[in-house]
Amino acid sequence: MHTFKDFYKNTVRLSFDKNPYSEEPWHVWVICKYGDEWLLTEHAERGLEFPGGKVEIGETAEEAAVREVMEETGAVAKNLYYVGQYTVEGRSATIVKNVYYVEVDKLLPRATYYETNGPVLLKTLPTNVKKNKAFSFIMKDDVLTHCLEEIEQKHKQWVK
Ligand code: GTP
Repeated sequence: MHTFKDFYKNTVRLSFDKNPYSEEPWHVWVICKYGDEWLLTEHAERGLEFPGGKVEIGETAEEAAVREVMEETGAVAKNLYYVGQYTVEGRSATIVKNVYYVEVDKLLPRATYYETNGPVLLKTLPTNVKKNKAFSFIMKDDVLTHCLEEIEQKHKQWVK
């Protein structure tokens, strides 16, 4: 388990166990790869981030992850892997978010990308994301760095 502060100084708890904080998280965040490129979305207000959002009523977190990726980037998920779960203690509420890693099959053009400007492909994630104004605050805490390490470590056993 990792505990640290986010961009807004809220406390974040991150674990790579299976659903340690909630069996029914209300939020999902999806680290996406398309071929050898990272697939992000450009949120109209927050900037560049991996896609994600809220789980809708009647939907599982996995279903929400696949839907959010499609809505915000037009990408069709091929393989989806559970990475971990984190909580953020905000001023008014604590949110619980599942993190997934998705390998994308194809990118389809869409008429709307909801609150985002659609897909952005990056060969590498810059080392200075935390200081880069183009990136969203949700990319600026240690959730991203720890999850990328976890994906790197687990990838071999996932694809076996
Ligand atoms: P909407 O109903 O979509 O307008 O939600 P909201 O903007 O009120 O935020 P949401 O319920 O998604 O999250 C509440 C607060 O939790 C946000 O204002 C953020 O401070 C924080 N939060 C949400 N997601 C993340 C995240 O992935 N990382 C971090 N560090 N904080 C987050």
